[in-house]
Amino acid sequence: MQIQQVQDLDALRRFHAVEAAASQHDYVALPADPFEELVPLLEAPEAAGNLVRMFVGLEGDEPVGVLSLRYPTLDNLDNGNAELAVHPAHRRQGHGRALLQYALDHVRAQGRSRLLLEAPWSTDGGDGPAFPLLRSLRAKPALDTHRRLLDLARHPVGPPPAVPAGYRLVQWVDRAPDDLLDGAAYLRGRMTLDAPLGELTIEQEKWDAARYREKEAQGLARNRMLLGTAVVHEASGAVAGITDISVNRELHEIAYQWDTIVDPDHRGRRLGLLVKSWNHRLLVRTCPTAAFVNTWNATSNTYMVAVNDALGFEPAEKWTEWELDLSPGAPRLRSGR
Ligand SMILES: CC(C)(COP(=O)(O)OP(=O)(O)OC[C@H]1O[C@@H](n2cnc3c(N)ncnc32)[C@H](O)[C@@H]1OP(=O)(O)O)[C@@H](O)C(=O)NCCC(=O)NCCS
Repeated sequence: MQIQQVQDLDALRRFHAVEAAASQHDYVALPADPFEELVPLLEAPEAAGNLVRMFVGLEGDEPVGVLSLRYPTLDNLDNGNAELAVHPAHRRQGHGRALLQYALDHVRAQGRSRLLLEAPWSTDGGDGPAFPLLRSLRAKPALDTHRRLLDLARHPVGPPPAVPAGYRLVQWVDRAPDDLLDGAAYLRGRMTLDAPLGELTIEQEKWDAARYREKEAQGLARNRMLLGTAVVHEASGAVAGITDISVNRELHEIAYQWDTIVDPDHRGRRLGLLVKSWNHRLLVRTCPTAAFVNTWNATSNTYMVAVNDALGFEPAEKWTEWELDLSPGAPRLRSGR
């Protein structure tokens, strides 16, 4: 297999074809990102604190595997993050191993010393196909997560809870109001502090208003709509809790929960359930054909999981986030199959 960096639309089409086939084969209601959402990553690979590089593996002319590497640029400068998939018709031929080896070499060449990647368990609850490969590298399983899926036909959005006295609700599409921006960025930065990370080596991300706006702008450029709900503490003006959902501007069927966080000063008042319930209402009013919402939570994140259970989310599959130490002297990948 020959591995090429994706640098033009033709290569991107091949990349997308493999992603689409793998997602369709492996998951329910988790399709590959639409092609148009990928194009801006070619034109502006660095935005909002992340640099993305895409690669496609070819057998002759045929695309058989894909690799995406994401490098944080404002924090976590020792880390690289990888996603890889092999076309279902071309598995067990060494392509996954070759893509992973390529990822390791690329991450090392960037001067980074750690690779983080997520791999799904099999649907029967057993080891996922990537696990033996990762173990052969002495990768460390660092955090268990679950994807959860809300089927809106089975669990229609009900009336949201009343907003408690002393708080007010703010909702928006695409751009958070200017007066909430600093509070929104502050809470976004707390995500990597407050959400359980298990044994993952991730430092707190650095967020400010400019990075928050850049993230929103990148979403728009990628043809995504962003739906946000915040609850504001009236006495202090602080953003007490915030949540957002992203959905393609034309393809509304499957939506993606992004971040939800309640400020530690305001926890224990069911504000997490409040903002998510109102945001679901905003979703179905803005996108009446929305059918599913995807979300990912650390299995140990009992508070968030309880909120999601209350909203009707159901476990789809289990994932594990693995960490590979690439510092000098760390074990290298076995060669061959
Ligand atoms: C994981 C994945 C990328 C492996 O791709 P692949 O090309 O089939 O992998 P390889 O042929 O290089 O296999 C490498 C090793 O992985 C293990 N492996 C791969 N698929 C396996 C399976 N279905 N069952 C058990 N072991 C498996 C084996 O140890 C294999 O070595 P062997 O063939 O010498 O026994 C592929 O199954 C895939 O795309 N899965 C869905 C996405 C995914 O899990 N991504 C996470 C990547 S970290």
